[in-house]
Amino acid sequence: MTAQVDELARIALTAARAAAAYIRAARPAGRVAAAQTKSSPTDPVTLIDQAAEKLIRESIGAERPHDGFLGEEGGGTAGSSGVVWVVDPIDGTVNFMYGIGAYAVSIGAEIDGTVEAGCIVNAVTGEEYTAVRGAGAFARTGDGAPARLAAHSPPSLSHALVGTGFNYVVDIRLHQARAVTALLAHVRDIRRNGSAALDLCAVAEGRLDAYVEQGLKPWDLAAGGLIARESGVRLAGLGADPDERLTIAAPEPIAEEFFRLVRTCGF
Ligand code: IPD
Repeated sequence: MTAQVDELARIALTAARAAAAYIRAARPAGRVAAAQTKSSPTDPVTLIDQAAEKLIRESIGAERPHDGFLGEEGGGTAGSSGVVWVVDPIDGTVNFMYGIGAYAVSIGAEIDGTVEAGCIVNAVTGEEYTAVRGAGAFARTGDGAPARLAAHSPPSLSHALVGTGFNYVVDIRLHQARAVTALLAHVRDIRRNGSAALDLCAVAEGRLDAYVEQGLKPWDLAAGGLIARESGVRLAGLGADPDERLTIAAPEPIAEEFFRLVRTCGF
């Protein structure tokens, strides 16, 4: 199993690096136009999202032709091996369109429904985040060696810098805005960085203290969830596991208190 998972991790990172390089090279100067919209008129997809996903699908498919694939843009294809690749070619598409430097390629490899390996490559900075279940999470910048991630805990919840995001559907985002208003009284501040995958990496490496969002799709969460967990971050949702209804993440020492607060605030 370990050798197989290590191989999946290698394939994921190769595909994510190639996609990130493509995205960097393909992005024109200025604004990038949406090719179409998805869940609402403000939920965009660009031609570069679609092309990057195709590249990833081909790169992985060349080595793993019998695996399933679930991509944000192209949907799902069943496989026969028990492995499913869960892929967001550009997490942070709105940032990408506007030229705000926080968007990333996210690839998770599931075996029988559990994410076993994942990687996220920041397409602007080239920072790489990787994890294998049970073997830790790592970050690598430039030509440096991968450094093991260990989440940092703030001295108290009132000092926590909390990442969040807002759904593209108006009714849901209004509900989220009310919950965030309640949360603001209890934490240092909030950040809305525009990429759930990078937010989860940020909690893993201590650039954020905690994270809460509703409406995440499997491709927003697959790799980032594993990277966060492997760095010592606890994740939950309405129940024990995060899902589309709720994702909360915090380092172990403040997790219980943060999860209680989030629910009290009405998320
Ligand atoms: C979005 C980003 C954003 C989050 C949204 C996601 P996309 O992903 O992760 O931060 O708030 O819920 O849909 O659409 O840019 O891949």
